[in-house]
Amino acid sequence: MANEGSFAAALARSNEIRADFDVNPGKYTMLTGDRPTGRLHIGHYFGTLKGRVELQNRGIKTNIVIADYQVITDRDTTANIQDNVYNIVIDYMAAGIDPEKTMIFTHSQVPALNQLMLPFLSLISEAELERNPTVKAEQEASGHQLTGLLLTYPVHQACDILFCKGNVVPVGKDQLPHIEATRLLARRFNERYAPVFPLPDAVLSDAIEVPGLDGRKMSKSYGNGISLSMTAEETAKLIKKSPTDSDRNITYAPDNRPGVSALLTTASLATGRSQEEIAAEIGMGGGGALKAYVTESINGYLAPLRERRQELLADMDYVKDVLHEGNAKANAVACETLEQVREAMGMVY
Ligand code: TRP
Repeated sequence: MANEGSFAAALARSNEIRADFDVNPGKYTMLTGDRPTGRLHIGHYFGTLKGRVELQNRGIKTNIVIADYQVITDRDTTANIQDNVYNIVIDYMAAGIDPEKTMIFTHSQVPALNQLMLPFLSLISEAELERNPTVKAEQEASGHQLTGLLLTYPVHQACDILFCKGNVVPVGKDQLPHIEATRLLARRFNERYAPVFPLPDAVLSDAIEVPGLDGRKMSKSYGNGISLSMTAEETAKLIKKSPTDSDRNITYAPDNRPGVSALLTTASLATGRSQEEIAAEIGMGGGGALKAYVTESINGYLAPLRERRQELLADMDYVKDVLHEGNAKANAVACETLEQVREAMGMVY
């Protein structure tokens, strides 16, 4: 599990792999994903989407699952799921994901991926499932009862990674226990039956975590994140009502001035300038001048992405085609892997 020792080891391994991406891009198959519970925001963009586009463009095989079955791990409804899924496909493409290079698919349309869950569940004990700290934390945060699907979703996530023989998984620190679980399942399967699966490694993001506009964690439920799909006007409004403080002198101090500092970080990501440099420039201009600067810089940065979003929204047939083709490709890959699994297990009739 993710104690500090294993975190250090995971980080060292992650750095080694990053260094090797340019040397041996062909060695790597990346799989990562998102839960379609709402719109993607700039936290997703700067935290992972940008990095995925870079990997894709370096020639690494890239795969993205829109994890629709994960939506019902801790909620009782699939309301808006179709709209959320299509909008995520649009966000991906607007951000630079190229469906010619990256396979985009949903769990629910790839039966053979889901079928891997049965042999994998037999390889892990109830105690091991219950020990996963991330599952516990997510259950508490959701306030929902611990469903069987939430308890076992790390195993399902292993199916996501292993059906396409993914060997690198870009994730945040909180997902490390799931990569550990995936390695455990792959190792146990290979030892018990036959060597079918790679043992994947986490690639830890070196991007900073983007705070919400109020300095808290960016989250849909706090309404403190700038979505990629917002208009420039909606973005301006959200920034306008974000909390600052009474000190007119703008300084970067994340612990003491969370609101002001989150605004500075947002502008820093959009401009490539440091928070301190922006703060010094605004100086005694106060919250108003800071907000004007943040609004202009983030709206400017997102303008081309939002323009592509609009073009894609106007061509929903194309968006649907991209997903259908991604699903078809994923099905072919999943059927091949499932066939290898059946053979390894002697289930050949
Ligand atoms: N659980 C991840 C999240 O909430 C999304 C996800 C689904 C994922 N399947 C995955 C991430 C496989 C990495 C690998 O963000």
